Amino acid sequence: MTKTARAYTNIALIKYWGKKNKKLKLPYTNSLSLTLDKFYTDTKSSVIDNDEDIVSLNGEILDFKKSLRIKRYLDVVRKMYDFDEHLKIESVNHVPLSAGFASSASGFAALAASINSTMKLNLTNRQISTLARNGSGSASRSIYGGFVEWHAGNDNDSSYSEPIDENPKTDIVLLSVVISEAEKTISSTNGMELSVNTSPFYTNWSTLVASEIIEIKQAIAQNDLQKIGEISEHNALSMHALTLSANPPFTYFAPETIKIIQIVKALRQKGILAYVTIDAGPNVKIICSNESVNKVKNYINEQLPKVSTFEAHIGKGIQYI
Ligand code: PMV
Repeated sequence: MTKTARAYTNIALIKYWGKKNKKLKLPYTNSLSLTLDKFYTDTKSSVIDNDEDIVSLNGEILDFKKSLRIKRYLDVVRKMYDFDEHLKIESVNHVPLSAGFASSASGFAALAASINSTMKLNLTNRQISTLARNGSGSASRSIYGGFVEWHAGNDNDSSYSEPIDENPKTDIVLLSVVISEAEKTISSTNGMELSVNTSPFYTNWSTLVASEIIEIKQAIAQNDLQKIGEISEHNALSMHALTLSANPPFTYFAPETIKIIQIVKALRQKGILAYVTIDAGPNVKIICSNESVNKVKNYINEQLPKVSTFEAHIGKGIQYI
């Protein structure tokens, strides 16, 4: 019987922003994330007697255009692990766009784990991480729970993720503040490419990430949430500085994004623990503690009654169910 693989989404605290090899999705720098509970993808794959793969999402068979990215990925996997069979992929996504998270990280992590199980590839988690990375860079980190580091590497085998602490005692809560559910107008791939090629600050990005990874790992080891928050916020805003300094300049921010950054700063001045992190879109994730999260939520709802908030905690690595 084929098992269903489940993978959770993750939020990068030290961001991946720039590919040194586009085909293999090798990043310029390491990155570091927290796997979250609540938002996940379930994927089952089965061998079919067909000369084409079939992809279904949330019970609906995807047409040629919508399934192209997965089908191309399956071609890469077949070549990599030397098998010819075509597959039926059935995915159910529990990462709603309405919660402000992209589903490519949990999606490709669950798909890689599912293919490993169905095709009996006997891969280690490190190899599953490498396989997931070929679908979407951030997916390499969703193989593990808790705090995870993705090693940039220099070729397919050396670019993989590794857990830092899968069951951390850190009192961390992530509050997703959703401003818009719309698809982003500049994909992360295009945004990265523009930043790498045209931002005069891109050369400093690698140096910054290298030192912030060391600092945040120390803060994680000491369960120092304030330090984790400070470093994460600085790293995220530095990533967005690469978009603003690209040529032509661009930004993922909406007016409400800035408003929330200001609110979070004001909350800190009142002694409430809160720090922002922002991916390639307008929505803001606020790093809180169990003690501060309700205060932050109430304050945001008061100031911006139209936005919705979702709370997430530390999540697990891939599961077979
Ligand atoms: O994995 P991708 O190609 O969707 O890129 C992810 C980029 C960021 O979310 C902005 C940062 C990250 O490390 O997750």
